[in-house]
Amino acid sequence: ADDGYRLWLKYDLISDVAQRNAYRQATQYIAADGSSAVLKTAAAELQRGLQGLLGQPVPVVAKAEAGSTKRGILLLVSPTANVPGSSDASRDGYRILTQGRNLVVTGRSEAGVLYGVFALLRQLQTRQPVANLATASSPRIQYRMLNHWDNPNGTVERGYAGSSIWKWYELPENLDPRYTDYARANASIGINGVAINNVNASARYLTPEYLQKVKALAGVFRPYGIRVYLSVFWAAPKVIGGLKTSDPLDPQVKQWWAARTAEIYKTIPDFGGFLVKANSEGEPGPQDYGRNHADGANMLAEALGTHDGIVMWRAFVYKANSNGDRFREAYEEFKPLDGKFSPKVLVQVKNGPIDFQAREPFHPLFGAMPKTPLVLEVQITQEYLGFATHLVYLAPMFKECLDSDTQTKGAGSTVAKVVDGTVDQHRVSGIAGVANIGSDRNWTGHPMGQANWYAFGRLAWDHSLTSAGIATEWAKMTLTNQPAAVATIVDVMTKSRDIYVRYTTPLGLHHIMGESIHYGPQPWLAKAGRPDWTSVYYHKADSMGLGFNRTATGSNALALYSPGVQAQWGDPKTCPPNYLLWFHHVGWQQPLPTGRTLWHELVTRYYTGADSVTWMQQRWASVKPAVDPALFNDVTARLKIQRQEALWWRDACVLYFQTYARQPIPAPFTPPT
Ligand code: GCU
Repeated sequence: ADDGYRLWLKYDLISDVAQRNAYRQATQYIAADGSSAVLKTAAAELQRGLQGLLGQPVPVVAKAEAGSTKRGILLLVSPTANVPGSSDASRDGYRILTQGRNLVVTGRSEAGVLYGVFALLRQLQTRQPVANLATASSPRIQYRMLNHWDNPNGTVERGYAGSSIWKWYELPENLDPRYTDYARANASIGINGVAINNVNASARYLTPEYLQKVKALAGVFRPYGIRVYLSVFWAAPKVIGGLKTSDPLDPQVKQWWAARTAEIYKTIPDFGGFLVKANSEGEPGPQDYGRNHADGANMLAEALGTHDGIVMWRAFVYKANSNGDRFREAYEEFKPLDGKFSPKVLVQVKNGPIDFQAREPFHPLFGAMPKTPLVLEVQITQEYLGFATHLVYLAPMFKECLDSDTQTKGAGSTVAKVVDGTVDQHRVSGIAGVANIGSDRNWTGHPMGQANWYAFGRLAWDHSLTSAGIATEWAKMTLTNQPAAVATIVDVMTKSRDIYVRYTTPLGLHHIMGESIHYGPQPWLAKAGRPDWTSVYYHKADSMGLGFNRTATGSNALALYSPGVQAQWGDPKTCPPNYLLWFHHVGWQQPLPTGRTLWHELVTRYYTGADSVTWMQQRWASVKPAVDPALFNDVTARLKIQRQEALWWRDACVLYFQTYARQPIPAPFTPPT
């Protein structure tokens, strides 16, 4: 049975003999021209993949033999390689081409060749004909990051796949082979940076003891083109430095960070930089000293000095009772700082204004800070999307944000183009995904959760890829190459996120989940102290209607968007029903564009959403002959839970909102008992 450990890098023997032979003829040896660690990795991975897929050993040699009649694969690093999209700033692209009898995988950097090798293996894993192997690609985004919310004690904040994969108590001496497989998986999808610890950070990582451990991990990742970053605890100068303050403008504090940074680079010469959560959810920060986010970020940037490192400063900030709409807060704190950040600083913004809800409108900061490179942060771990029990394929959600048109520089100023730097001509660009990886044998708990890790990497590389296209690649590499089964699986995957939204938070409802655990429904949650952590604050149900009025007659958060977006979302008639209750308090009897009243539409979505899980179960049952039995059973069991919990969500929410709407459950739906 397949335990899921190998992810999408299975390299199982290709059973179609004709295809296998065609591939065998084209891949008789590998020539790696050079001896860098990354190139060696590329050659070794190719050798491993070919050995598995084709069932025969393929030798690695230093150079293509002149006059040989064999057909080889040449791995070639050349600063002048003709790779579309390559530039001085971006040398990660690759090109695969035929040259005489050989295939050449080339790039302007070793990493480019490594990515090319994984692309070539992907072509074989997805069974592209030999004649179609030539291809080329360059990443659109430069810093492609995973953020781990892992703690020193081995727990993972919002992690649902076991504990942390980092075994701090065994490092640096013992290097779990899993670290290498993790690096392989990341490199295969183009991820080139990992922040290994929780944004709610411990200061411990900056101690000499822990830096040795981090160094050991960096050593494993380096041959895979991956750099290590650290989340830092703002008060570290006090906690581990013995200083009385962590005021960013204090000379001793500056000196402390400069000295720490110097030690980090002495230990890890290719250290990537810092990720910072400050003055958010109780974390300390520069505002504790009357300074602002730019003061803090720029001080760290200065500490990095001439080292090739960056600061990713998070914009996820909000305070209790501040101004009546949490939606506005990050914008209000950060927008005025546009132009005040040092060139080494990128501001990291979540996809939506609240917090990784199943559906959010794009964050109003995208397009609003043209002088600052913005990193898009999405969540791969399913904090609000059913943990590791619900099958929810997230590419459609990532794409929905990336494809949103901010209209800040005319039509077509999509979030993707803001983030990749094309809208405002930034040289640096970044994207971060909060990892769903843990110590579970299959890495992600839900076997299908692997697809979300995969899809994040693929979109970080190229946001123009389609959700279905990525799902198809992944399913073929991971589950089966049987065409009808692939089509069924891809269909279920691409519809799953909309289905989840329907049975949990349809029509723009948000933040009505269980308190602090963030699982299951709790729309009735109300309590004093932190209204911004309750449910009633967000849904605003009353006897008249439902939804948060964010128009000019309400919190006016809509005014943070460009006029074109405001015009569309500001009118309940033109606002897409999917965002309706994000922006409008709508009467229960108000007819919607669907022809139903709000109440009727709400009930319809909850019921049809829950019933669609039955459809998912049926579709999944049909692929049984094509997939591994253990994996089949695992997903089948999780879908059963998903169906039960969809009913739980449906009944809890419909019955709760019914106490305000005071309407019967419309036919053909039967009231919950
Ligand atoms: C969410 C999540 C927290 C996390 C925070 C963040 O609020 O529930 O656990 O720390 O996001 O992104 O900083």
